[in-house]
Amino acid sequence: MESFDFYSPTRMIFGRGTEEQAGAQVKAHGGSRVLVVYGGQSAVKSGLLQRVTQSLEEAGLAYETLGGVKPNPRYSLAVEGVSRGQAFGADFLLAVGGGSVIDTAKAIADGLANPGVDLWDFWTGKAALKGSLPVGVVLTIPAAGSESSNSAVLTHDETHEKRGLGSDFHRPRFAILNPELTFTLPAYQVACGVVDIMMHTMDRYFNPVTSNQLTDELAEGLLRTVVSNGRQAMAHPGEYQSMSELMWAGSLSHNGLTGLGHRPDFAPHQLGHELSAMFDVAHGASLSAIWSSWARYCVDANPGRFVQFGVKVWGLDPSGKSEREAALEAIETTERFFHEIGMPVSIPELSCGVLEDSVLDELALRCTFYRKRTIGTFQVLGEKDIRAIYGMANHV
Ligand code: NZQ
Ligand code: ZN
Repeated sequence: MESFDFYSPTRMIFGRGTEEQAGAQVKAHGGSRVLVVYGGQSAVKSGLLQRVTQSLEEAGLAYETLGGVKPNPRYSLAVEGVSRGQAFGADFLLAVGGGSVIDTAKAIADGLANPGVDLWDFWTGKAALKGSLPVGVVLTIPAAGSESSNSAVLTHDETHEKRGLGSDFHRPRFAILNPELTFTLPAYQVACGVVDIMMHTMDRYFNPVTSNQLTDELAEGLLRTVVSNGRQAMAHPGEYQSMSELMWAGSLSHNGLTGLGHRPDFAPHQLGHELSAMFDVAHGASLSAIWSSWARYCVDANPGRFVQFGVKVWGLDPSGKSEREAALEAIETTERFFHEIGMPVSIPELSCGVLEDSVLDELALRCTFYRKRTIGTFQVLGEKDIRAIYGMANHV
């Protein structure tokens, strides 16, 4: 087994009505002045925000609210949040929402703990993050896994750069997971979440290390669970059991567990981020739009890995086929599933149309951070490879 260092300190509180514990949890984790961050309108309309703030009041905590976080959250709102938090004297951030809200709360926490530093400098690597304020989460969508991850992803308003920042300071202190809070989700967002949860596991699974049996079994079991419950959740909206499985899978998919001992690849995520940054498309959709093109481009790096994926996740029978044929069948099966749940498998299906060559060039250039990096570990990809993958995905 390969060496690893697993740190997953977030307290996970799962089940019906658990949002009522928000106030007690904040207090138990040392918070007294809470900045509550939320998104557009869903948490207000459902009454969730009101229930959460009531629980803060019952715990005797002072709070202020900051709404308006958009999907693919913007740096500027995080900066505004830092000013609001400073004026209020916030000592704890409570995120009520999905990945965009949680990542904004993490960024505000970073800014409050590091006054005087331009927040974006942390995301570009110009400044090193040396501390942050504590963050708690009430999760409303199983998808990004930010409730258990070390990452926060922001988009710069002017340059449209979308960047992730990984740090153990970003691990939330607690995450409240009540599947009932997801019942108001539109089907499209449920499907985006299914893709994202799968991709957090697949971007770890397709990597150069294949000797960790338990890690592989955990990943394959998680993927089978997400596929079957994803189908069930799409067919029966508002069903507690299937949303429970998705919610728990979402948290385990991105806390590191499904990639222990691996050298995670995450190239499809980097390719998808540029699509979201340029066209403001939903994160999950950007991933399914690019994955099969990435997979076909990289399959020869280790076709056997795709065959294993086909057998263990999709129940395919590779007998009578060449290794390459069986690998391609696994990729096609994944594509069919994405289509079945209404997700795109090409760039034009993202509704940005077929892109001009110059746009594909620009996407590839941006994805290398203007020629400062390669991406991926399963197969290391430079600008030419990245451009070729965007080209492959640009079909009707
Ligand atoms: O803003 P509201 O009105 O709440 O609507 C949101 C939003 O439009 C809606 N929504 C959420 N919960 C709802 C609901 N609507 C009805 N009922 C509910 N219960 O869903 C829409 C999407 O919300 P968002 O928070 O953007 O979704 P998601 O959790 O998929 O987060 C995506 C963001 O997370 C980043 C992505 O890049 C993207 O910016 N990621 C963060 C990661 C991390 N921090 O570890 C890892 C991921 O790979 C990902 O990159
Ligand atoms: Zn993701």
